[in-house]
Amino acid sequence: MNTQQLFDNYIIPSVGRLPLSFVEGKGSWLTEESGEKYLDMYPGWGVNIVGHCHPEVVDAIQKQAAKLLHAPNNYLLPLQGQLAEKIIQHSFKGKIFFSNSGAEANEGAMKIARKWGKTKGKWKFISMIDSFHGRTLGALAATGQENYRKDFEPLIPGFSYAPFGDISAIKEMIDDETCAIMIEPIQGEGGINMAPQIYFQELRKICDEKNCLLIFDEVQTGVVRTGEWFGYQLYNVQPDIMTLAKALGGGVPIGAIVAAENVADVLQPGNHASTYGGNPLVCAAGLAVISVLEKEDGIEKARAAERVLKQKAGELKQQFSVIKEIRGAGTMLGIELDIPGQSIVQDCFKDNVLINCTHNCVIRFLTSVFISEKEIEIAFKSLQKALSKI
Ligand SMILES: Cc1ncc(COP(=O)(O)O)c(C=O)c1O
Repeated sequence: MNTQQLFDNYIIPSVGRLPLSFVEGKGSWLTEESGEKYLDMYPGWGVNIVGHCHPEVVDAIQKQAAKLLHAPNNYLLPLQGQLAEKIIQHSFKGKIFFSNSGAEANEGAMKIARKWGKTKGKWKFISMIDSFHGRTLGALAATGQENYRKDFEPLIPGFSYAPFGDISAIKEMIDDETCAIMIEPIQGEGGINMAPQIYFQELRKICDEKNCLLIFDEVQTGVVRTGEWFGYQLYNVQPDIMTLAKALGGGVPIGAIVAAENVADVLQPGNHASTYGGNPLVCAAGLAVISVLEKEDGIEKARAAERVLKQKAGELKQQFSVIKEIRGAGTMLGIELDIPGQSIVQDCFKDNVLINCTHNCVIRFLTSVFISEKEIEIAFKSLQKALSKI
C-alpha cells in the first residue's frame, strides 16, 4: 500500500490533507517520497522556528536519546529544571509546568485560573472572537470560533467572547466572577490580527482593577516568532500566565505554562501532572532550540526576515488590488485578500511552494528565522504568479 492508501485505510480523517508525503527536511525545505523538494513557508505550523532538522537540535536529541529517553515526573529531571530556568531568564519571574502540546498548556493555565479564583467566587473566562486555543474540550470552550466548537457542545461552562481589540466590550463583560481574560498577543488562526499596545495596557489595567488574571496564549507567538522572545514583549505588558508550545521544541512535542510569581504556587502536589510533560528528550531539544536562537541572534534574524517579508508583500499589494492588508511581526506574516485564498495555496503548491491560508482569506507565513532572502523571493514569485491568474 502506498502512503495515501495507508491513510485512507487506517488514519481517522479528522484533518484536511494535501497529497504530499514528506520524508526529509532541512532548513526551509522538505523532500517528498518521490524526491521532489518543496519550499516550506510555514514549517510545522510554526514549530520549526530554526528550520527543519537544525543540526544542533538533531545532535542534542540524538545524544539525549542514547543517554535517557524518559523518566517520570515524580523525580527531579535536571534538563527540565534547566529549560525552565532558560525560559524564565528570557521572560518574567515565575515558575513553569511542562505539557506536551499547546492545547494542554492552555488546559493547565485554565486550571490554575479556576483554582486561583475558587476561594474568591471567580470562575468565568473572557476570551476573544476569532481566537484559537486548541482542540481539547477546555481549549475549544475558550476558542472564539463557532465552527470549531459547534459539533462538540456542550463544552465547559463559563466562557464568553469579546471582539479582539475592543476594550469597551471587555469593560461591559467582565464581572466579579471573572477569573481570567485569555488572549493571543497576535491572533494566529484567526487571521494574524493585531491590536495596539494601548489595548493590551488597558487589558492589564482592567485585570488589576478587577482582580482577575491575564493569560496570554503564546503557543504561536512565543519563542522569537514575533521578533521578541515572547509576543507580550511587543506591548511591554506582562501577563500572569503565558502558554507556549510549537517553536519551543523545534519539532518535538512540548508545551509549557509560565506562571508569574503571584500564581506560580497555586497548583500543589496532586493538582496537575503529565506522564510525558517535560521529559529528558523534549527538554534537550528545547534547550538546543533556545541555545541556537541565543547564539545566532534569532531576534535580529526574525526582524530581518520581517523586513524582507513585509517589503515583498508591500510590492505585491501595489500590483494586486485583491490584497487588502498586510499584518504581522517577525516571521509571522498575514496577507489578507478580499477573496478566498485556497486556490492560491493550491497554485503555489503546484510550484513546490508551501504556504498556508487561514481564516479563509489570509495567506499566512510562519517561516524559520533562518529563511534566506532568496527563499523569500522564490515564495513571492510563486505567489505573484498565482495572484496574476485571478
Ligand atoms: C494560539 C494557539 N493556541 C493553541 C494551539 C493549539 O496547540 P496544539 O495544536 O499544540 O495543541 C494553537 C495551534 O495552532 C495555537 O495557534
